[in-house]
Amino acid sequence: MQTARRIAAIPPYLFAEIDRRIAEKRAAGVDVISFGIGDPDLPTPDFIVEELARAAGDPSTHQYPSYFGLPAFREAVADFYQRRFGVALDPSTQVLPLIGSKEGLAHLPWAFVDPGDPTLVPEPGYPVYEVATILAGGEPVHLPLSAERGWFPDFGAVDGAVADRAKILWLNYPSNPTAAVATLDQFEDAVRFAADHDLLLAHDNAYSEITYDGFVAPSVLEVPGAMDVAVEFGSLSKIFNMTGWRIGWVVGNPVAIEALGRVKTNIDSGIFNAVQRAGLAALRSDLPHLPGLLATYQRRRDRIMDVFWEAGWKVEAPKGALYVWLPTPPGESSVRFTQRLLDDAGVVVAPGSGYGPSGEGYVRLSLTIPDARLDEGCERVRKALVGR
Ligand code: MLT
Repeated sequence: MQTARRIAAIPPYLFAEIDRRIAEKRAAGVDVISFGIGDPDLPTPDFIVEELARAAGDPSTHQYPSYFGLPAFREAVADFYQRRFGVALDPSTQVLPLIGSKEGLAHLPWAFVDPGDPTLVPEPGYPVYEVATILAGGEPVHLPLSAERGWFPDFGAVDGAVADRAKILWLNYPSNPTAAVATLDQFEDAVRFAADHDLLLAHDNAYSEITYDGFVAPSVLEVPGAMDVAVEFGSLSKIFNMTGWRIGWVVGNPVAIEALGRVKTNIDSGIFNAVQRAGLAALRSDLPHLPGLLATYQRRRDRIMDVFWEAGWKVEAPKGALYVWLPTPPGESSVRFTQRLLDDAGVVVAPGSGYGPSGEGYVRLSLTIPDARLDEGCERVRKALVGR
């Protein structure tokens, strides 16, 4: 059977591959501890689950949902933006519900990228930006990130002619995988760059509420003029421990929202209305679970950092996202260190090189691992670092 050329152009999804390796080890009897995928281990808050149960018992939710989402869900997203970021959104033209933000990110290039068009992809980065560009026939152009620049793009180093031809500038702060955060000043630079080069700025803000040490993550739409050039993706997954529910949104520039909506209405039939009703209950709440959730992640972050600090690593604890992003031991590549941890310690981490060439020399550890397993995993990593 002959598959399309575009399939040869994309790799297996990083975590599909990691899951395969974990399954192999477990089948061989290894007690694997995974710091791999960022998938919250704590349950969805009860009030959201209860709302889902109520809504699922209402037969009116059993038919096709509206293509553009429940008006009440779109209003709840707009209200959340007003409350949280001070950004006013028109729920009918500037908000579109998604089957998880990954779905919208993956479909966005279909609305903006013609064959051969570049998109500007900061790397290391969430792999979907690059793969979605390729699937739409576009050409990802890497913007290499570095620790020295706080894992934020150096727009001054981008070839202006390429930027002029490009269609999308992808950004993601708090960042997966680097856990870097960005300030409003940095977003201002990005908005200016996007406006100067007629780019759609697509900001993935899935981790907006997952921040530490008092840092409050901004929305790119807080920048004056951003609505002319930007869309921002959000998700209930990480904020409300709802990765399995598949519900998110995109907000911002109405032309972009309409174009993505047109793609989606042709290929999907929306989100189960009961999930949307539960999602709007989540967004309308005062996020009662969040302080406890952040305290848990911050404690886990500090536990992992202690291991690396004691082994001599001189790096700062990250201020956002569900991850720590750490250099590998001197002279050891991402893949080699990842493989050694798996073979010698039964510990899974994500190799930095899986997120782009500039991720070489780093690994990502997720904080979404129950405390007892985290302690055991940290002890195994400690032994692997200090050799005893
Ligand atoms: C990750 O571990 O990178 C994320 O959980 C994947 C995702 O958000 O799709």
